[in-house]
Amino acid sequence: MEKLGGLFNPSSPEMEALAGLTYYTIAITVVILAIIVFAVFYIIVRYRKSPADKEEPYQNFGSLNLEIVWTLIPCAIVAVLFLLTCNTMKAVDPPVDGHEPDLIIIGHQWWWELRYTKSGVITANELHIPAGKYMLARVESIDVIHDFWVPELGRKIDAVPGHPNYLWIVAGQPGIYLGACAEFCGAQHANMRIRVIAESEEEFKEWEKQEIVIPPTPRSGLAGEGARLFQNKACMNCHTILGTAAAARVGPNLTHLNNRQTIGAGVLTNTPENLNKWLTNPQKYKQGSLMPNMKLSPAEVEAIVAYLEALK
Ligand code: CUA
Repeated sequence: MEKLGGLFNPSSPEMEALAGLTYYTIAITVVILAIIVFAVFYIIVRYRKSPADKEEPYQNFGSLNLEIVWTLIPCAIVAVLFLLTCNTMKAVDPPVDGHEPDLIIIGHQWWWELRYTKSGVITANELHIPAGKYMLARVESIDVIHDFWVPELGRKIDAVPGHPNYLWIVAGQPGIYLGACAEFCGAQHANMRIRVIAESEEEFKEWEKQEIVIPPTPRSGLAGEGARLFQNKACMNCHTILGTAAAARVGPNLTHLNNRQTIGAGVLTNTPENLNKWLTNPQKYKQGSLMPNMKLSPAEVEAIVAYLEALK
């Protein structure tokens, strides 16, 4: 499994602000720790009992000056942290200001539906964005509370059923940023992965253009057989394939599954072999997933894989 980046690899202005706040907080606490450790050792050595001491040393109860000092210093530290936090909150959560969302991110048990409001592209689990450009996402959920989180790009945001939240997404540089659902949402919470694929403006436009293409339905051969099975074996009750009668939204849109890097929100890399394994028994790879074991024969699986691979 690839590692999630985060604090030590901030890749957006939002994440830089968050990392900055963390570093300041750590620096302040390290200074406090150093002062206390030094004071403890100094006092242990300086005021240790010597053989000449015959009785208890002088006991000093209450010192107004000390009380004032050790109340004011922590207050000042809290005030500084408060100001730093307010600044960071402003930076990591820019106001929506009446903008229309560019994206709708919908949490499902256990995958992410991604809808691009302007182009009409609908995909799953892999979010393509143009690097350096702010995209406003409306984050929703269809079932339970999920949480969209790509550590290198910024804050977490809850996906709450019936209560949309808004999130500005931006990646400073092109690259692949890995994320995950960050709110326990059931058996396969851990397999609700996100890939943000930040590309140049041209690459992004090209990707969007490919995604809206309605691929011709294969009529003959193995792929044609797969197309027929897709309709007859109930695949179409849950999935969408543009240009066919399959238009359901229970599971991911499979029209351009070819363009995606993983299957099952990150459980398998997307290769024909893995697609074959997945279709043979999805429950083996993602137990509890709404994708049932359709009890397909090896020949049927092969035909459906050929069909999905042929869609271009
Ligand atoms: Cu969705 Cu955890």
